[in-house]
Amino acid sequence: MTPTTRSPGSSPGDESPRDGDDMYDDDQPAEVNLNETEGIRLQKVLAQAGVASRRASEILIDRGRVEVNGQTVREQGVRVDPERDVIRVDGARIPPPRRHVYLVVNKPRGVVSTLSDPEGRPTLADLIERRKERLFHVGRLDTDTEGLIILTNHGEFAHRLAHPSYEVEKTYLAEVEGIIDAHELKRLRGGLVLDDGPVKPDKVTVKSRGADKSLVEVTLHEGRNHIVRRMFDAVGHPVRRLSRIRIGPVRLGQLAQGASRELTSAELGALLDAVKL
Ligand code: URA
Repeated sequence: MTPTTRSPGSSPGDESPRDGDDMYDDDQPAEVNLNETEGIRLQKVLAQAGVASRRASEILIDRGRVEVNGQTVREQGVRVDPERDVIRVDGARIPPPRRHVYLVVNKPRGVVSTLSDPEGRPTLADLIERRKERLFHVGRLDTDTEGLIILTNHGEFAHRLAHPSYEVEKTYLAEVEGIIDAHELKRLRGGLVLDDGPVKPDKVTVKSRGADKSLVEVTLHEGRNHIVRRMFDAVGHPVRRLSRIRIGPVRLGQLAQGASRELTSAELGALLDAVKL
């Protein structure tokens, strides 16, 4: 285990409020306000992350439920660097204090997946409060597609999340024309060859079949242009309506159309794990 250990000169009581979230400016390198050479006591880090009170965090440590950089910590008073050390409670990643902004929006149809549009169409910027940080969106949805998009000012996170090699799953709910039969479902599940190469979904489930339409859930870990629409075109069932309802651990849930929210700690921790940050 290599949590940052306290330097010989530091005192256990030295817990100034310097390590609070509000000290972080976006896009600044990891700041010395973490008191890097000394680290911060693990129970304090857990309390600040909202895991439990300090006392309850000590109990978690006692019970062997806390891990730092892959090793269980049972000793009290261990100091860590919450920016760099990977901390887990019961296996779930506790994200570092937020130096960046991580938002998720539910993009309505008709909104373009950009933050400014020369043609003056509604953009993602219209869905969020004006911020001083320069945000960018992770991947795109077609203008006609609704659903989840993540916005952040954390460049490496965004880059990795959009990259197929990290295999973050995305789930779409598609309303398609006509009734998908068993043969077509098998074709979709088995994978299709599109103009730009093969696509093999992780999962395809028919949620319902109506008189002239089917509702189908598709999970993929890639995001080529119009990929879901092209898959359904290939089996003769054009998409009427398409929504992205999940990105890895982030679910659309009750987020209203046009609304946004911060990623939760659990979502952020799981996404950081997924993209190996
Ligand atoms: N697949 C599509 O066809 N469109 C999107 O916006 C996203 C995935």
